[in-house]
Amino acid sequence: MALVPYVHDSLPVLSKFHNSSAEFRFVDRDLRLAQDWKKLGVAAVVWDAAVVMSLYLELGSIELKGKRVIELGAGTGLVGIVAALLGAHVTITDREPALDLLSANVKTNLTPDQSVVVSELSWGMGLEHYPAGGFDLVLGADIIYLEDTFQSLIQTLEYLSSDATVVLLACKIRYERDTNFLSMLKHRFIVQEVHYDRERDIHLYKACKLSSGRDL
Ligand SMILES: C[S@@+](CC[C@H](N)C(=O)[O-])C[C@H]1O[C@@H](n2cnc3c(N)ncnc32)[C@H](O)[C@@H]1O
Repeated sequence: MALVPYVHDSLPVLSKFHNSSAEFRFVDRDLRLAQDWKKLGVAAVVWDAAVVMSLYLELGSIELKGKRVIELGAGTGLVGIVAALLGAHVTITDREPALDLLSANVKTNLTPDQSVVVSELSWGMGLEHYPAGGFDLVLGADIIYLEDTFQSLIQTLEYLSSDATVVLLACKIRYERDTNFLSMLKHRFIVQEVHYDRERDIHLYKACKLSSGRDL
């Protein structure tokens, strides 16, 4: 059997991650998101799930104007930026190492009058710094991928949600563990698939907290 050398940069599907920026047009605005794969890895590139979620938000199925929105595992911040352009008050969060790039992207693409805060949120940690049940919408694009974080991610979603909160999760189902996450989530939330992007193979799920009376 011939050996084919594996050259990471030569895979077309990965090459876009090595660009120093990614450009999009949402809400009649040209957006430019800085990327830094070599320094920060997965947190510093725009994933297809973020693009699909941004497209979904732009379609207007969910009212964003004046709503309190938090994005988890925001990476470069595309989703939160689009939500802010659509009129939401957005808290864009990620782990500490991602925050500088995230803040820079917010600064590049939004004006100071747009209501955005960038802050650290490592799932399951320091949740008391955020208002319990204090958000109308919780957003997460491509954040279901590390099995070790599943419990703390669900804990975080529960903490941030009231009975009226909508959680939107966009993801690629890559491994069996990803479906396991959805099963775990269904113990605490009513979950329905609201959109599937065939071209990018991205699923979009809407989840609403099971009220205490209906808890399993
Ligand atoms: C695959 S990237 C997705 C980034 C962005 N949402 C997108 O779709 O372009 C996963 C993101 O989750 C974040 N993340 C991973 N584990 C986390 C944790 N325990 N707490 C908070 N964020 C985490 C990473 O820093 C990264 O930004």
